[in-house]
Amino acid sequence: MSAGALSLGVCYYPEQWDEALWAEDAARMAALGLGWVRLGEFAWSRIEPEPGRFDWDWLDRAIGLLGEAGLRVIMSTPTAAPPKWLVDLAPEILPVGADGQRRKFGARRHYCFSSPRYRAEAARIAEAVARRYGAHRHVHAWQIDNEYGDHDTVLSYSPAAEAAFRQWLGDRYGEIGALNRAWGTSFWSMHYDAFDQIELPNRVVDDPAPAHLADFLHFSSDQVLSFHEAQAAIVRAHAPGRPVTHNFMNGNTDFDHHGIAEAIDLASWDSYPLGNLVHGRLPEAAQARYMRTGDPDQIAFNHDLYRGVGGGRFWVMEQQPGPVNWAASNPAPADGMVRFWSWLAFAHGAEMVSYFRWRQAPFAQEQFHTGLLLADGTPDQAAGEVARVAREIAAMPPLGSRARAPVAFVLDYPSRWALAALPQGRAGVPAHVALDWYAALRRQGVDIDIIGQGAALDGYRLVVAPDLVIAEADFVSRLAASGARAVFGPRSGSKTVALQVPEGLPPGPLRRLIDLRVTRVESLPDWSEERFSFDGASHVARGWRETIEIGEGTEVLARFEGAYRPGSAAIVGTGRWRYVATWPVPEALDAVLGAALDWAGVERLPLAPDLRLARRGAVTFAFNFGPDTLMAPAPAGARFLLGRAEIGPADFAAWTG
Ligand code: GAL
Repeated sequence: MSAGALSLGVCYYPEQWDEALWAEDAARMAALGLGWVRLGEFAWSRIEPEPGRFDWDWLDRAIGLLGEAGLRVIMSTPTAAPPKWLVDLAPEILPVGADGQRRKFGARRHYCFSSPRYRAEAARIAEAVARRYGAHRHVHAWQIDNEYGDHDTVLSYSPAAEAAFRQWLGDRYGEIGALNRAWGTSFWSMHYDAFDQIELPNRVVDDPAPAHLADFLHFSSDQVLSFHEAQAAIVRAHAPGRPVTHNFMNGNTDFDHHGIAEAIDLASWDSYPLGNLVHGRLPEAAQARYMRTGDPDQIAFNHDLYRGVGGGRFWVMEQQPGPVNWAASNPAPADGMVRFWSWLAFAHGAEMVSYFRWRQAPFAQEQFHTGLLLADGTPDQAAGEVARVAREIAAMPPLGSRARAPVAFVLDYPSRWALAALPQGRAGVPAHVALDWYAALRRQGVDIDIIGQGAALDGYRLVVAPDLVIAEADFVSRLAASGARAVFGPRSGSKTVALQVPEGLPPGPLRRLIDLRVTRVESLPDWSEERFSFDGASHVARGWRETIEIGEGTEVLARFEGAYRPGSAAIVGTGRWRYVATWPVPEALDAVLGAALDWAGVERLPLAPDLRLARRGAVTFAFNFGPDTLMAPAPAGARFLLGRAEIGPADFAAWTG
């Protein structure tokens, strides 16, 4: 598989269908141009119908038929759905909700990451499946589990989690005095004498100590990582040369995705643009505009994130094929969108796009979820679009890989946990605020890499960190030593790792770069607005405002207007650094971040609001998410590989030159 090769795949559940259908299904998949098929992630009870009795025959036959039809199998470990017999044997594997109630069998993801019994069972079944198929000639890749965090299942308040949390805290703090200092337990008489007195931070009367909660979130993330690492090690031992992946989700910050990078060979994620639009950040008018195309930036944000998580390599493991079943409302995509989303992924560097699912299920929870085929096996809309993508791939010259983007966007998971643990009001959903910043940069036509604090910074001209609450000293040093300029959003550097006020006040370690002190913060109601002047115009900000004092070398770039503290600094800068002390609304972000791109020497191309660009190798793609025909910003003489200069609604074009 070369980096430039593109392929397509599908998620298939032979265990849900009469075996008489399999051979024809396999032949039809291949005829459609699909090259990959994912199997097995929910098949535990069929693989091991009773404790220790394995039934491999059906799966051997399914893999054989699919492989002989020319498909490469992605085999999964089935740990996202432990069977009933296991739950009955060992009910302690079930997760416990924040209300203290044990969750029941009857859906999926009913396990606690901290259960030693479940960890042993997961290792046992992973070992069995990997031993059987690791070196199988038709099995070319592995998925571990399925969507960690789906259905909010990272946090569990079980006795096993409590025991493991105490252990984790002991390792982290060494002695209880250090924990007392870090958590600030002199406050409200919360003092502990020993680690085994500590409980999980649920069912307390008021908010728990923020460091207690943030440590629990951090611990829970570490539990996901170690759960994953254990299975990845088993699979790698039996499946040499086959990439190991996990299918991540949109918008899940319950575990540190950068932290899992070592234990996967490529990242993959599950892209459901319309469900994510309904549950996303856009106001209703914008949702109406994009109801059948998706938020122009939410999809790309994930592509850019998972390209980074995968060390440059990512797949879409599940691509929405039509209406889904699980969102508050489930509209149909515009005709053509399955093709559009597939190419959007490729433009952002994806090597493979796999569709969920082959045939619509006529039973159980996801009956309303479409597939490539209707429940009776006749092709649905997506099948024709997928066939077209396959033909287009065949005609497309190798795309090459994505170059390093000029802009790096920092997504730091511990900072998100800090915001969850100590939100200071209900203004602004952190993920939405950050996506607004990302979107403003994308509207300027620039490519973006999403990185963690540990990433190498070489080659970036601009680093944008909208919510880096916990800025690591090492990151600040490497940033200072890099050639990049940086823009920080409010709250950056505002807390230590233990969620305390940093020495010298916020922005803590960032004060090494920029001489300022945040002396007051306020969260503001949705219906209020603050105004600030920047570059000769008046702009709106919402939700958050800081009062900052600056040192002599720091320049005020924008000032608040209005009755409250008029003239106080809204954006300041010095040398290579800028700090924004509020949340500008999207239009204001266009001005603030557009100016930052110019300042950092990043070439930009302000786009029509519905258009987005992505460059891969020598090819530029332009995607029109809106209802009007738009012109591609292609140079004269451009050679179009897909589409043409006039891009119709919900359509795209790709060109070289
Ligand atoms: C994903 C999940 C799939 C399926 C799909 C439906 O979250 O991994 O198993 O449920 O959603 O959209």
